[in-house]
Amino acid sequence: MFAKLWLDDVVDNNGTVVTNNGFDTGNVVYINTVKELTTRKAVSGLKVVLTKASDAGLSDEGYEIKKSGDSYEILANNERALIYGAFRFISLIRLNKDITAAVREVPVSPLRMLNHWDNMDNSIERGYSGESFLFKDNDIVIDDRTVYYARLLASVGYNGVVINNVNVKDAACDLINERFIEKVSKLSAIFDSYGVKMYMCLNYAAPIDDPEVGSADPLDEKVIKWWEKKMDYIYEHVPTLGGFLVKADSEGRPGPFTYGRTQAEGANMLGRAIKPHGGIILWRCFVYNCRQDWRDTSTDRARAAYDYFNTLDGEFEDNVIIQVKNGPVDFQVREPVSPLFGAMPRTNEMIEFQIAQEYTGQQRHVCYLIPWFKEVLSFDIYARDAKSDDTTVLGVVTGKTYKNKLCGICAVTNTGNDYNWTGHDLAAANLYGLGRLAFDPSLSSEDIAGEWIKLTLSDDPKVVSNVTKILMMSWPAYEKYSAPLGIGWMVHPADHYGPDPDGYEYSVWGTYHKATCKTVGLERNSTGTGYAGQYNKPLCDIYEDPATTPDELELFFHKLPYDYVLKSGKTVIQHIYDAHFEGAEDVVVMNGLWQELKGLVPDDAFERVTKRFEHQLSHSEYWRDVINSYFYRKTLIPDEKGRALY
Ligand code: GCU
Repeated sequence: MFAKLWLDDVVDNNGTVVTNNGFDTGNVVYINTVKELTTRKAVSGLKVVLTKASDAGLSDEGYEIKKSGDSYEILANNERALIYGAFRFISLIRLNKDITAAVREVPVSPLRMLNHWDNMDNSIERGYSGESFLFKDNDIVIDDRTVYYARLLASVGYNGVVINNVNVKDAACDLINERFIEKVSKLSAIFDSYGVKMYMCLNYAAPIDDPEVGSADPLDEKVIKWWEKKMDYIYEHVPTLGGFLVKADSEGRPGPFTYGRTQAEGANMLGRAIKPHGGIILWRCFVYNCRQDWRDTSTDRARAAYDYFNTLDGEFEDNVIIQVKNGPVDFQVREPVSPLFGAMPRTNEMIEFQIAQEYTGQQRHVCYLIPWFKEVLSFDIYARDAKSDDTTVLGVVTGKTYKNKLCGICAVTNTGNDYNWTGHDLAAANLYGLGRLAFDPSLSSEDIAGEWIKLTLSDDPKVVSNVTKILMMSWPAYEKYSAPLGIGWMVHPADHYGPDPDGYEYSVWGTYHKATCKTVGLERNSTGTGYAGQYNKPLCDIYEDPATTPDELELFFHKLPYDYVLKSGKTVIQHIYDAHFEGAEDVVVMNGLWQELKGLVPDDAFERVTKRFEHQLSHSEYWRDVINSYFYRKTLIPDEKGRALY
């Protein structure tokens, strides 16, 4: 592999950009470390020596950066880690960090990945930052942006990317066939040159279309042979491929259930076929019945992943990882942590977050999700049969709890072909943040925000302070003015944007809030669907009883009367009113903080974010009024503070 920085990072000793000049290990290079943000011009270069080391403590992906005389040395055991080290060096210098003492860093999460939901027609499922830059007109796009993107991922420490949508259809079915294989190979090689492994999503039902096979039964010899041959073919052309991500038996996608087989039988068939090539299978646990009769009170979508997977612990091949969404339902602004993280001691697990803001403002509202992700990762799930003291979600997905090597953290990405990559300029903090968090989960949300602001907008203390405040306020604000107390789903069906309290209530998706004039919420304890019982002790007991369930999840677990008094001392209905007024007011404060930055951040970024805030100001008021009015009209209980309710 030829380790390569890109364009304006490598300069000669006068600071002049050496276009397209890569570097190889052992070389002395001059890395441009000081940039004038607006002109992106090289200003000076620092002499850096890249050394291939043999240092067990750095393992595969760690590096050491140290000063020696008037130059610096970056040491790592392989080229990939040298790239991470070189990028880290650039950011440390730009952040004005003192590196007189050696900096040694080893990523904590083995896999740090982004999942694209890009379609080959150029659209992006749940994409809010333009169109795909990977696909267009049912073809693969390879241009400068591809390289910038690979570079961007490496610079933040990501080591994997899944390029296509989990819902594999149309031309995407041919990504593993002759039609696209050469381009797939080129794309994979570009990512690989930056130390990022490329993965694809496959269509589980593919062999059905082969008239000689006509089935996708994972135990059928013909199907097994078909996939073995297919993997041989793929790896012959794309030797750098990391493997495949699979969505099966979910939302209309075919899978092993069709043949009466388990999820493990389905995943293992692919795992065995890809094993000789060193590839891995990421098998999603987003398996549920999306056709529910509202009268059926025993079926609970929240239960599904655990019900289908927990008994399969220990049955998966060692190159299969199950990929579990952070919560049991679907990326709501607040959900409990999926109980599956505490239940699979002999299975590789990866956590799936979503930085595409499907349910959190679609990159039109600012919503910095890193505090939420930190809360999820640091949550003690009381993982059963742990081999260490660490029984948190982070322990499970980073291999600490069960001493497994294949595990990690990923997110559905928020990137597209918009000029600023993420639609909302401030949404890039999530892209940066997830990568940094997976690399070093000990960083605080504020640390990550501060780094991102300085590297992207400005290191002016006022900019750092105001934007940090905005980011830190943003997720709690969104939670306040959208659906209350963990109930979720009060959004428009289909596009999932904007308030629609009953939008899903009368549909078949099984995402109810069951609000009546007397009560709201779902009974998910032992008197209801039994979902709370999926947690290990003491969590199952905590969630069993409204008196011990945390306020923010009360309505997720319990059906409560509106005058039920929460731990905050407020009734459910007063909490709803107060939170919605407060949330909309928080947006006014965030916008005020942003407006103080005119002239201190680049003008174009200032204008773009101002426009987004204009929308968020009115849209958060709309959320407030629709939700408050809905509950007021259901209950006819007035706001004790006498504010206007429609
Ligand atoms: C959500 C989302 C879908 C997506 C699915 C998934 O339901 O709305 O667009 O396909 O998650 O995670 O597979």
